[in-house]
Amino acid sequence: MASVFAGKNIVLGVSGSIAAFKVAGWVSTLAKEEANVSVIMTESARQFVTPLTFEALSGNKTYSNMFGSSDQDAMVHINLGREADLMIVAPATANTIAKLANGLADDLLTTTSLVTRAEVFVCPAMNGKMYAHPATVENIKKLKEIGYNVLDPAHGMMACKEEGDGRLTDWENVAEYFAKALTLQELTGKKVLVTAGPTREPLDPARFLSNRSSGKMGYAMARSAFRRGADVTLVSGPTTLACPSGVRRIEVQSARDMYDAVLTYSDKTDIIVKTSAVADYRPARKAEHKVKKDQIESQLQLEQNPDILYELGKRKRKGQLLIGFAAESQELRTAGIRKLEKKRLDLIAVNDISGINSGFESENNQVLLLFAGGSESLPHTSKQHTADLIWDKIVSLDQQ
Ligand code: PMT
Repeated sequence: MASVFAGKNIVLGVSGSIAAFKVAGWVSTLAKEEANVSVIMTESARQFVTPLTFEALSGNKTYSNMFGSSDQDAMVHINLGREADLMIVAPATANTIAKLANGLADDLLTTTSLVTRAEVFVCPAMNGKMYAHPATVENIKKLKEIGYNVLDPAHGMMACKEEGDGRLTDWENVAEYFAKALTLQELTGKKVLVTAGPTREPLDPARFLSNRSSGKMGYAMARSAFRRGADVTLVSGPTTLACPSGVRRIEVQSARDMYDAVLTYSDKTDIIVKTSAVADYRPARKAEHKVKKDQIESQLQLEQNPDILYELGKRKRKGQLLIGFAAESQELRTAGIRKLEKKRLDLIAVNDISGINSGFESENNQVLLLFAGGSESLPHTSKQHTADLIWDKIVSLDQQ
């Protein structure tokens, strides 16, 4: 639903590296997200992948030639550059990097990069020795000074059978930077703290109390804040999710670990979003050895965990925004209002966990937003889209 890439004109400049095949996957992903991708290939890139590959994946013509027969062809670099919302150069070889750094314009890729006023991302890919060569190092430094965004290559074994820095980075490492470049930077200068996932409360070395939270909703909240320009810290309970690019993650296990981590950062944070499902109780003591089956009932005594959000509400400073979540299966509004008031929140997102395909674990969600003097029911949609809509509301509260 409503990807940040949908409807955007993205120019992808491909230069001559074996990694050219890898960006075919990027084009495919962008096309699935409904971006309008125009691929420019250098002459060398055509030695590795055929233009037809990119044409089939993007649904658009692949460009290479600066000099066409019609007037329109002669202006192709102007048109592509002018209409681009974002330009990506990947893989960027040492030669293309050198040309970009020095303003050379002898092919369609380099001329278009001089014309465009969109953000340009350069993703290097080359042999590790070439990447470490002082000339390349100097050119990359220059690129950054000029205003290009240079994204680091990955470390690993390369096609030349040498190990080092120089592998084209993976889509997962760069997608968020592209998404950010296409998003209004409404949270620039803001420090945001998001909590996500469950907590685990140990009973013994083998067992713990926990809940069904996957972390997906909280990670989507963190991702969306990063895209809007915030400096984001994510305090996460145990999940299998990868940390979103650009986000600083602090991993915790128990509610008390989460309490300590959140309280360490809360004073310096402008907006705190508590998406995590914190265990309200923990076993009163963690047994050193695995508790025998027939002793569990007698040994399992519970103790209450600290309510982190309630504590944050007590300490809330002027101008700080406090956002809570609630997972409810009945009387959503009444339960939500009670938590909003008790924990001194600015906004609470109440999940209806009685429905199918929303709440815990699901890719989708449906929430009711409650805030001072109002409410808003969000549609049933992906968690990422839900996060974007919640941030729209948070930003409007922040600007009041
Ligand atoms: O992780 P997913 O699988 O994507 O699922 C997302 C979610 C359903 C977990 C998430 O959207 C959600 O609803 N999170 C809140 C879960 C919950 O039950 O909250 P609660 O009603 O127990 O607590 C209300 C608020 O107080 C929450 O913001 C919670 O983080 C906070 N709290 C609760 C208890 C406690 N000891 N400390 C807290 O800070």
